[in-house]
Formats: sequence, structure tokens, C-alpha cells
Amino acid sequence: MPTVTSSQLSANPRSLNVRQRVAKKAALPAFSNAYSLVDALRPSEPAYGFRPHSVHTAARWFLDHFPGRVMYAVKTNPDAQVIHALTQAGIGHFDVASLKEIETVAKHAPKGKIYYMHPVKPAEAIAKAYFDYGVRTFSLDSHVELQKILKATDYAKDLSLFVRLSIPNEHAAMALSGKFGVSMDEAKDLVMETRRVSDRFGICFHVGSQSMASGDYRTAMMLVSDLVEQTGVRLDALDVGGGFPSVYPEMDPPALIDYINAINQSFDDFGFDVDCELFCEPGRALVAEAGSTIVRVDLRKDNMLFINDGIYGSLFDAGFPNFIYPVRALRPDGEFEGTMEAFGFYGPTCDSMDVMKGPFLLPEDIREGDWIEIGQLGAYGTTMRTRFNGFYSEIMAELQDEPMLTMYPDMPRLDINKHVSKRHLRIAKA
Ligand SMILES: Cc1ncc(COP(=O)(O)O)c(C=O)c1O
Repeated sequence: MPTVTSSQLSANPRSLNVRQRVAKKAALPAFSNAYSLVDALRPSEPAYGFRPHSVHTAARWFLDHFPGRVMYAVKTNPDAQVIHALTQAGIGHFDVASLKEIETVAKHAPKGKIYYMHPVKPAEAIAKAYFDYGVRTFSLDSHVELQKILKATDYAKDLSLFVRLSIPNEHAAMALSGKFGVSMDEAKDLVMETRRVSDRFGICFHVGSQSMASGDYRTAMMLVSDLVEQTGVRLDALDVGGGFPSVYPEMDPPALIDYINAINQSFDDFGFDVDCELFCEPGRALVAEAGSTIVRVDLRKDNMLFINDGIYGSLFDAGFPNFIYPVRALRPDGEFEGTMEAFGFYGPTCDSMDVMKGPFLLPEDIREGDWIEIGQLGAYGTTMRTRFNGFYSEIMAELQDEPMLTMYPDMPRLDINKHVSKRHLRIAKA
């Protein structure tokens, strides 16, 4: 699949055990960093870099700190090497949204346990999940979906059913309560009915993606606790969903440990039963740091750069949601000069919406033929690619350097303001 030959690979100057073990399994061509990749391949299409050791660090952190079951939200990045890196780190539970994601987990993590947490599912997919893949856990937010699940599973008696609540998504960069989740007003009936037909009964919610305030989990858990009290049901499991943040140049969230503390404290304060099991479904926080997209500048018009990936590729969130990603310029055959300036990007398609305002800070003399590494794209990056206008790259490689920004205390940070050129690489190696 990758358009890279082994002779093009640069040697890895490091030899950490975790890196070696994970790399062996993922089997992608490996480069010490984006600069070496560009130097070796001079790619005219976007190249997607993945750091397995970064996923490993993030997964270990969640497994060590979250007081319950950690399920990876597969939609965030379903690539085989991501699933391998996660299983290698000890993640054994997977939150899926579709039959395709179920097949992906079954293929790449055959021992993994699958949870079908999309509140609206095709009946055929529910049946296949239950009868062919052994899935027992499903979420729902309506009476109609509840009946659909029961019918599709032949009124199974061993179901774990989670009612998804719509809760405030006040501090999230991306709200996820608009389409899914039953309102608090309508939840009582659904909770009691679902409890009646479940072997194990749970409640789940999503505070919205990239939650910038740990208090959102507290508010949601208070609402769940009120609902449990009002309905008098026994709650076997509480799934606090995803939403755990990553870090971006203009979004510096509280430390991840604050989110864990808020969840622990709320569990105690709101009187949840000690036997109620906690689940979470992180996506972004586990994989964002691990990915970089490496693009080439095909044209410059003033401070707008026409690059070869865009919102129909791995940069969807840089478009309308206007996420600002960390960037650094790469020029293997020369030096950058001058100061840093703010740039915007145009993607390669003919659609005027294919624009990413940024601002992205890059050297003032950046020009056609330079490359740019765009970081923090392991989450909702490669998974969002389309083939629109014929732009679709399959160049994937392993990167063995540190992520551009990190939420994890054990992960060193790179200086992203440094222009990367041969001279800087020599300095870094010296
Ligand atoms: C049901 C569900 N769980 C988990 C996630 C992952 O969320 P995040 O990437 O914000 O952690 C999502 C994201 O859309 C989701 O819909």
C-alpha cells in the first residue's frame, strides 16, 4: 500500500524497546522524523506520519489513571497500525459505530471486546454484531431503537444496554448532543423500560469533543445521578464517553488528571453505587498527538499557500471548525530566512470551501516546493479523507520523533518554532 521502498528508508537513530516492538507489528516504513521522510521521498502527494510510541504512552496513561474500563473510540482513527499500537499497550475494549468498524476490530484486535455505541443502527448490523461477532453491548436513545435491538437479537436475555443522555456540551470545541441523546424530560420512561429488558443496564453521555473544562463531566454525572434517583433503577455501569482533550496552539486545556479527578470526585459526591462500573470512550486524547500530515506547497499567493491536502483530505477540522494545528516548515535543500508570519491554506480541490484560515505561523520566505509538517492530526485526520477531485494519497509512514505538542507528562515536547532544515538537523544531532 505505501508507495515507499525499503531503500528509501532512513535509519532510526534511537532504539527504545517500545518503539521497536510496536513498529515491528505496524510494519510501516520508518523515518526518524518528518524531515528525514521529506529528504528521502520528496513526496508530491501528502504523506501521513504515525508515531506508535505516542499512542502507547497515551494508552498507558489512561489505563493507569482512569478508574474503570477504557474503550477506544475507533472512529477517531481506525488504521491498522493504530489498533495494533493500542492493543500492544493493553487496550482491549473498542467502541464502534458501524459494522465496518466491527470488522476492523475483529481483524486487527481479534481478542478485543466490542461495544456498539452508536444510538441509531441498521437492524441488519445489530443482528450481525450480536450473532456473528458476539457483541452484547449497545446504546440507544429512543423506544424505537430499543425495540429494534430486541427484535434483531431475537429478544436476547444477555444484553447490556446503555441509554444515551443529551447533556450540556458547553465547553466543548465540538458539540455532540445535537443529534443524539434523549432529553432529561423524556429519559425517565426510556430508562425504566430499558432496565426492564437488560441483563446489565447503563447510562452513557458525551460531553462533546475536545472538552475544555473538566466540570462538564461533573455536571453530566450530577444529571445521571438525579435520573437514577428519580427512576429508582439499579445502574450497573456509567459510561462517561469521550471528550478528553488534546492540545493545539490556541487550545490549551487543563491537565488530563483534572478530568480524572473530577470523575472520581463526582462518583463519590453523587452517591453512585460502589458496584456501578465506570467506562470511558476516549478517541482524540489517545491518538491526536501521534499523527502528522506532511504537505507540499504547490503555489503561494501573498500569505495564502496552496497545499496538496485540505478539508476533503485529512484537514477537515482545519476548515469550518477552524482548528489551528501546529506547523513547521521543511526545506531539505536550503535554509529559511526572515521572521515567522501568519499564513492561511487552500486545499487542492476546486471547491472554494476548501480553505483553512489558520493562522499558521511559518517562515516569511516559504514558497512553492517547500514542505510543511502539520501536527496533532492523529485524531479525525486520515479517517476523514475522501477521493474528491481525485486527490487521495496512500503514503503512510512511521515517525520516531516526539509529537509536536503533548498532554502527557512523560512525553517530551519538540520546539515547534524551529525551522527545520539540514543545518538545524545537524545541530539537533550534534
Ligand atoms: C459515542 C462516541 N464515543 C466516543 C467518541 C470519541 O470522542 P473524543 O474523540 O472526543 O474523545 C465519539 C466521537 O464522536 C462518540 O461519538
